[in-house]
Amino acid sequence: MARFLFSILLLTAAEAATQVGPPRDLVGKSPVATLDTATLQAVNFNKDVFPILQRNCQTCHRPGEAAPMSFLTYDSARPWAKAIKQAVVTKNMPPWFADSGYGSFRNDPSLTPNEIAILAAWSDNGAPEGDAQLKPKPVQWPTGWRTNPDVIISIPEAYNVPAKGNGEIKAFLVPNPFKEDTWVRSIEVRPGNPSVVHHVMLQVPEDTPTPPFSWGAPAVPCTDTLSLQENFNEALPANLASKLNGGPAPVKGPKNFAILEAVYAPGAPPTDFGLYDSAKLIRGGGNLRIEVHYTPNGTATTDQTKIGFKLATRPPELRYVTLAPKSLANVKKPIPAGESNWETRGELEFGQDAQLVWLMPHMHLRGKDMTFTLVTPNGNEETILDARFNFNWQLGYELEKPIKVRKGSRLVVVAHHDNSANNKFNPDPTKEVTWGDLTTNEMVLPWFGVVVDKNVDPEKLLAIRQTGCTSAARTLPAQVPGLQSAPNVPAAPGLPSRPLPLPKLPVKGK
Ligand code: HEC
Repeated sequence: MARFLFSILLLTAAEAATQVGPPRDLVGKSPVATLDTATLQAVNFNKDVFPILQRNCQTCHRPGEAAPMSFLTYDSARPWAKAIKQAVVTKNMPPWFADSGYGSFRNDPSLTPNEIAILAAWSDNGAPEGDAQLKPKPVQWPTGWRTNPDVIISIPEAYNVPAKGNGEIKAFLVPNPFKEDTWVRSIEVRPGNPSVVHHVMLQVPEDTPTPPFSWGAPAVPCTDTLSLQENFNEALPANLASKLNGGPAPVKGPKNFAILEAVYAPGAPPTDFGLYDSAKLIRGGGNLRIEVHYTPNGTATTDQTKIGFKLATRPPELRYVTLAPKSLANVKKPIPAGESNWETRGELEFGQDAQLVWLMPHMHLRGKDMTFTLVTPNGNEETILDARFNFNWQLGYELEKPIKVRKGSRLVVVAHHDNSANNKFNPDPTKEVTWGDLTTNEMVLPWFGVVVDKNVDPEKLLAIRQTGCTSAARTLPAQVPGLQSAPNVPAAPGLPSRPLPLPKLPVKGK
């Protein structure tokens, strides 16, 4: 019962924005606007515009949220009528970058053509207010926590955000509130000051020492092509580990995957990890790493972001894991100055059955687009997300329905960077750009969420393959006596022999 109540609570918060106002079919789902001229001429704020603002805009456009202007009342929205028309006709608002031709997403806030026509007509007609009787009740937007968390952590102290500047990414290490591995139902990130918090990520930092070399997982990516089996055999044999360390402690190889526990972007409700009878397992002990990207808003201010954990009431059937290969890009090849369509391709092969539920492309200032395509073991291809990338928005795409992925399927990721002067975010098109974590470097992080059997080790879920890599034999450092090359591991049973060609996806030139 408690569980049931909790799902209702989460839904109420998460879907507040989509459940208010008249039902969607009143404005239609037709791919083209179908409203006639007479209807459009009669459009007014209270009857027609306000419900759309409630449903699609007020998540961000209200005091205390990310957007600088409020659309809670006629008086506050009226001065923006022309800008609203402009923003929706150009599809700059609400922010959403997925090509509507692929995939369907629970959190898609896009307006229908009729809704766009209504907002445009309202502006064209002089933004009339209309009959107050017809105005829907105001939405009771949640204040405070939405998930009623059991455990709350916070960045250590209020952080000073200056009035001006390019923004900065700050990482805070805080003690892990969990002493043991703990199942959590949701993680809610609450920025202290949403107007300066661009996005927040919560991760369990890797404190495993990185050995001087490994064979399943090169510290410098793209020196080779990883086979699934090699990836699975990533841990170093204990005897070798002790040789390297001068002691008996087994050493784990560096990890191929970054794991993300939670992410916050303006307007996005906390993800409900329990939606699929699943939960997240947060490793106990050590620290948690909270990374906050601050963007000054013109006034010097402070922020103290907090994170709340709602515990699962019982161990789940499935585990919700959010992960990304640490690097798909070929670190040996920087993006040339002025290059407008630099392509990175890579693929991940599933070593276990899984269900895909969420996707989030992450790149930096030169990021342009990212496409995720699933290829089944028998070669069927399906593009599940094709999204433009916009550095201003860290959007996650929640799949409408989970996609069942069979062992042996591949997720092919194709990303493009624009290092030319056409990219308005590009600070310097005359510079070659190298790969790395700094905002001035580039990355290709295709984050995705899967639910898997709760006993699966997320590190062993997938193997990575990159383009531009040769399959030259890896050699081990000479100081390890008697070992000159990686052991010859047979292919995992039931998997196609290597290498498979990457599917030929159309090259984009957006
Ligand atoms: C996810 C949060 C979010 C949602 C949802 C959202 N906005 Fe915005 N909007 C912002 C932010 C943040 C800004 C200011 C920064 C910017 O312009 O990108 C903004 C800016 C604007 C502007 C000003 C643009 C300009 O010319 O300066 C308009 C107009 C606007 N939004 C309209 C809308 C409308 C209409 C909707 C709903 C159909 C909507 N927004 C939904 C976050 C949002």
